[in-house]
Amino acid sequence: MNGENRSDIKRGLEVDIVLKADQRTGKLTRGIVADILTSSSVHPRGIKVRLADGQVGRVQNVVLKTNKIAVTILKATEKDFFGIKNLSAILNLPETVKEEKIKEVVKNGLAWVAKNGDQIIGYVFCEFFAEDHHELPNSVFISEIFIVENFRRQNIGKRLLEAVFSNNFPLVYKFFSITHDPEEKNLTSIYESFGFDVTGKTKAGNVKMLKKINF
Ligand SMILES: CC(C)(COP(=O)(O)OP(=O)(O)OC[C@H]1O[C@@H](n2cnc3c(N)ncnc32)[C@H](O)[C@@H]1OP(=O)(O)O)[C@@H](O)C(=O)NCCC(=O)NCCS
Repeated sequence: MNGENRSDIKRGLEVDIVLKADQRTGKLTRGIVADILTSSSVHPRGIKVRLADGQVGRVQNVVLKTNKIAVTILKATEKDFFGIKNLSAILNLPETVKEEKIKEVVKNGLAWVAKNGDQIIGYVFCEFFAEDHHELPNSVFISEIFIVENFRRQNIGKRLLEAVFSNNFPLVYKFFSITHDPEEKNLTSIYESFGFDVTGKTKAGNVKMLKKINF
């Protein structure tokens, strides 16, 4: 797929672009689309995009699902902050990205990242819900999980959560909890495959799912 048609380019896709400075040589830069800057439906030199790392250029190829990838799962460190923030701006609206919250989960050791080489291609955040939590008491809540689109369905989400499941949490936490919009029916089956069971609805009407923590 080349980069001339706007309809082929979506936020979260991995692409090769040519930066303005590289127009003469045609050197390609790989990254993840954060914003689409061309408003017309076709551009002969490629749709202009901003990558998650801030670089701007015209799309030459959409990277098709990579078959051979060496993805590693690691607990996030401060060095991963910008990479996580950029992906969070793809999952959420950029203006709703909570930098302070990201810093806090990373600092508290409650964030994990999936890396393909040096590039962060997914992350998961957890949060502690204490015994007085009104809906999901004594649980480690999975507050966000995101895998870049080209890397989905390759068990990376599962591997990220397995890293969370094998972490040692304080004994007061008896369950992992996760919620989602009932409209997103495929999330129920994805989370079931991660070992969660539906246990009801939250007051806001989201599907509530729990998985027992094994000690
Ligand atoms: C949800 C998400 C994190 C899953 O990550 P993933 O890496 O694609 O998932 P995996 O490849 O580990 O798949 C795990 C299981 O779910 C199943 N699955 C994955 N995507 C699926 C889909 N779209 N429909 C049905 N089942 C699906 C897989 O078959 C697999 O089951 P298996 O191991 O029994 O074969 C990813 O799709 C994503 O980032 N979605 C957008 C963001 C989002 O909605 N996040 C949740 C709200 S914060």
